[in-house]
Amino acid sequence: MSTSPPTVTDHEPKTTSPLDELEQRRAEAMKGGGEARIARQHDRGKLTARERLDVLLDKGSFQELGAFVRHQVTGFGLDNNRPYGDGVVTGFGTIDGRLVYVFSQDFTVFGGSLGLAHAEKIVKVMKLALENGAPVIGLNDSGGARIQEGVDALGGYADIFLQNTLASGVVPQISAILGPCAGGAVYSPAITDFVFMARGTSYMFVTGPNVVKTVTNEEVTQEELGGADAHATKSGVCHRAFPNEAALLLGIRELMSYLPLNCEDPAPVVPTKDPVDRADVALDTLVPENPNKPYDIKEVITRVVDDGHFFEIHPDYADNLVVGFARLGGRSVGVVANQPAVLAGVLDLNTSIKGARFVRFCDAFNIPLVVFEDVPGFLPGTDQEWRGVIRHGAKLLYAFCEATVPKLTVITRKAYGGAYDVMNSKHIRGDLNLAWPTAEIAVMGPKGAVEIIYKRQIAEADDPEAAQERFIQAYRDRFANPYVAAERGYIDDVIRPSETRQVLIRGLEMLQNKVQTLPRKKHGNLPL
Ligand code: HXC
Repeated sequence: MSTSPPTVTDHEPKTTSPLDELEQRRAEAMKGGGEARIARQHDRGKLTARERLDVLLDKGSFQELGAFVRHQVTGFGLDNNRPYGDGVVTGFGTIDGRLVYVFSQDFTVFGGSLGLAHAEKIVKVMKLALENGAPVIGLNDSGGARIQEGVDALGGYADIFLQNTLASGVVPQISAILGPCAGGAVYSPAITDFVFMARGTSYMFVTGPNVVKTVTNEEVTQEELGGADAHATKSGVCHRAFPNEAALLLGIRELMSYLPLNCEDPAPVVPTKDPVDRADVALDTLVPENPNKPYDIKEVITRVVDDGHFFEIHPDYADNLVVGFARLGGRSVGVVANQPAVLAGVLDLNTSIKGARFVRFCDAFNIPLVVFEDVPGFLPGTDQEWRGVIRHGAKLLYAFCEATVPKLTVITRKAYGGAYDVMNSKHIRGDLNLAWPTAEIAVMGPKGAVEIIYKRQIAEADDPEAAQERFIQAYRDRFANPYVAAERGYIDDVIRPSETRQVLIRGLEMLQNKVQTLPRKKHGNLPL
């Protein structure tokens, strides 16, 4: 298993024609680390670097770059082991006919580890992507820095981190984790826009289980520490976990269908047979009469968007907020929605970070934002306060304030307190702010409010409970509706829920040439 694949040496006397030589060298490049290592890869439920590209890209569209690149290292006996490609397959191809740049690490060659030549190949496609305005999709499966190459390997990582950062906000960057991704290697995917992981075969951590055991005395498996589910549910590092590699790669194709190629390119318009004026009467009764009863905001989303299709991002993380992509009248939109079915849709630390990152992605790539709002406020408690809900909540607020894309809001029920402001209110440049008749817009919920403002009257009443109920009802009559806000123009219209699709599509059409600028600055200071 440890023997290296044979390589064509540069010193063999030439007995073959140039074309034959080319074919011979290419055939050698194609076989990666050889049959035994490929079989081992397959036995683990993993595809090879090239098989993955076959699933990801349109058939026959892949053009490889750098297939004949080899490292120039001489130490550790590596001068006798110089496989073509140096453990990464790079190039460009298409997804649904649209250009993307790719790199796919080959675990069968040096465990996909990253040395100088390997890094240079990745940097080359990243630079091309930046100059030509097309996304970079990285398929990661690597033992990390190539140990024999020392500082050249570390430098190679830093070169990639720099390119990731320069490309951020210019072209979409998508990372698939399909094997090991450990140590500093995690920071390239972490800078990219989306990280997808395959369950059971991929893991990411800064330090592995052995180091964890030595330093903290915790016993943890690789899967528990950094498997797909750990990052999709606990850390939020992973935006989506998939049951296998093929599902993940098809997921990237689907994600791409919502995205523009770069920050100046429009997102693709996908024609739909779903009528733009389709009314959905079920929406008229979807919000329960009891304001404390939950309902599923995803049902609202799927009833409104084209063909009921919603591509959720972070579905298993901080799910009191729902974010993802959909289309309205064929155009991509980024949906941000409070989820009353989970923790009453309250905003907290993790939802704020999740939402802020998504809003900023959409804004960077000119994807309009559609917000569905039903939020009782921010989650109280020492845990939240001490972990910085002020600082993190500010991220979501900042992201919405800063966004200059078309921004539409539909308040379905509660819009309480600071959360009313945060969730793309009129005051922070919401373009079209709508409310359903069931909307309640107030500084806080009725019970909390009357306990503060009528504290003395309730305490002094003959029947405090009855008095409290009366005050609650009066407060409800005044605030538990959208009309106070509508009178002031903070709500542009109160609509029948069944008409939501039609009104949003009309709004998006109205806003399609929106131009809004920010004051001149180097960059803002997002509250990190
Ligand atoms: C050179 C490596 C390598 C590495 C694996 N290989 N990792 N070669 N540098 N980092 C080679 C192995 O020698 C082997 O070669 C082949 O890849 C497959 O490795 P195996 O160990 O047989 O595979 P497996 O049992 O699946 O284990 C995979 C693994 C393990 C868990 C990734 O190889 C491993 O722990 N590797 C080292 C990981 C690591 O510590 N990397 C450095 C992290 S620090 P043959 O010829 O036998 O097929 C880092 C810093 C980055 O990355 C800093 C950036 C700022």
